[in-house]
Amino acid sequence: MSVLVVGSINTDITTYGEALPRIGETVMGQSYAIELGGKGANQAAAASRLGAKVEFVGRVGADAFGELALARLAEFGVCVRHSTRDPRHATGIAIIGVDTMGQNAITIVPGANMSLDEAGFHEAMPALEGAKVLMLQLEIPIATCLAAARAARERGVMVVLDPAPAPSKPLPGALYPLIDVITPNETETEALLGFLPRTGEEAGRAARELVSRGTRAAIVTLGARGAFVAASKTAGGAEMQALVPPFAVTPISTVAAGDCFNAGLAVALAEGKDLMNAARFASACGALCVTKPGSAASAPRRNEVEELLART
Ligand code: RIB
Repeated sequence: MSVLVVGSINTDITTYGEALPRIGETVMGQSYAIELGGKGANQAAAASRLGAKVEFVGRVGADAFGELALARLAEFGVCVRHSTRDPRHATGIAIIGVDTMGQNAITIVPGANMSLDEAGFHEAMPALEGAKVLMLQLEIPIATCLAAARAARERGVMVVLDPAPAPSKPLPGALYPLIDVITPNETETEALLGFLPRTGEEAGRAARELVSRGTRAAIVTLGARGAFVAASKTAGGAEMQALVPPFAVTPISTVAAGDCFNAGLAVALAEGKDLMNAARFASACGALCVTKPGSAASAPRRNEVEELLART
């Protein structure tokens, strides 16, 4: 079974400390790490850790951070042969602060990620061969996501879109019908639909509304409150809806929790699990991720996920 990720790759510089600084404030931290990040790379690394054969198509700068990031992704077992280096832009970077409650604040400078254009994707098209699921996020140009989703749909490859970070403009209407599962969190839902889902009921309404825009299914995630799934075989209305209960864990850092959720979902779908079981598997992956510090490094291993699922 195989998963293709077309997306971002960053170097994450993460500080850990008592509190996040307020505007104009300087605070002392306790430790820091420089590591692989970027929603695309995190999702690829996490899917590989779960046992999938994974290929990643992305773009780094022709610099030391780019070398390190691709090498690190390859260490996770991800194939990076169709990822490229852009001599005109620096490798994407994320500056992340994490406090003792596990909360974070992130600034991203996308750099070379934003030069992964449609032509770049088309050069990497052979990577779609044999893929069961294509994973997309919103840290590369939207036109590239659209081209990749279109190519995947033409080949019968399932498309999972994590609409993160929350888009500042509406997604192109043509994208929705190309998506099998869209997975917004609360703030991404607000950006897409104009309201913040606070309860399971509101998340359900949001998921149904996304399905009515043309996606085959939608999973609205509510963090520690679970996730709401709605699905339709046609764009007309939801045929199935249900709440996936959360797994209770003590958070260390929520960075990459959405990435692990999406990786779990894609791997489970690629393995042929139905949507509800895939969503439950995904929730377990997201829950385990928050119990560890780090970005790509916080992805859970398959046996940890199976154990959590068996326990609850
Ligand atoms: O989802 C977490 C990721 O968002 C980080 O790794 C950071 O690089 C940003 O892309």
